[in-house]
Amino acid sequence: MTAEPARLRLGSKAPNFKAVTTKGDIDFHEFIGDSWVILFSHPDDFTPVCTTELGAFAKLEGEFAKRNVKLIGLSANSLDSHHEWIKDIDEVAGSHLSFPIIADADRKISYLYDMLDYQDTTNIDQKGLPLTIRSVFIIDPKKTIRLILTYPASTGRNTQEVLRVVDSLQATDKYKVATPINWQPGDDVVVAASVNNEDAQKLFPGYRAVKPYLRLTTLPKDKVTPQ
Ligand code: BEZ
Repeated sequence: MTAEPARLRLGSKAPNFKAVTTKGDIDFHEFIGDSWVILFSHPDDFTPVCTTELGAFAKLEGEFAKRNVKLIGLSANSLDSHHEWIKDIDEVAGSHLSFPIIADADRKISYLYDMLDYQDTTNIDQKGLPLTIRSVFIIDPKKTIRLILTYPASTGRNTQEVLRVVDSLQATDKYKVATPINWQPGDDVVVAASVNNEDAQKLFPGYRAVKPYLRLTTLPKDKVTPQ
């Protein structure tokens, strides 16, 4: 590990890398292709919270695929370990996990994406080396990072929230809207601040102005998520 990890922020280009995965070797940018990608790390194979998380992501693969989203997991374990663990995940969750999981035993990619755990001294391997935290990167087809989540090893994520953010990002890319607190597909959305009232009336006839700066409109569920 030589260079400083890239300072990855929303809007950064997702750094490219080559990786060994359970589905063969990949070049990350080629893997992204014209899809959205969720790159997510878990601390360790054969651990309880991670097993529930990977099972939950596997069961949602179809929903992500409908949205043109590919999943790819990562941890600092070996390929053999991943292959053995996937059998347990599928047994426990009743899933058929088919997305690739990166074997990042040398931590090159974890370092590049700043996924290593520098605060939980129990989140280490048998040699005392840090394992990964629970990172999520949502990357769009232009290879731009659109969302970064980092959870500590002790807290499992919420797959529905990851899916919800995908729906929000895809809807806000398509329509001049933003999504408010706790938004779910089918709920009202906020007319983007960049749209003046005259244009808002044309784009969203009958929109409701709760305040001059808070204008709501209905965006039906079928315009947001594939049915
Ligand atoms: C877990 O997946 O259960 C776990 C992994 C590493 C640290 C804490 C919990």
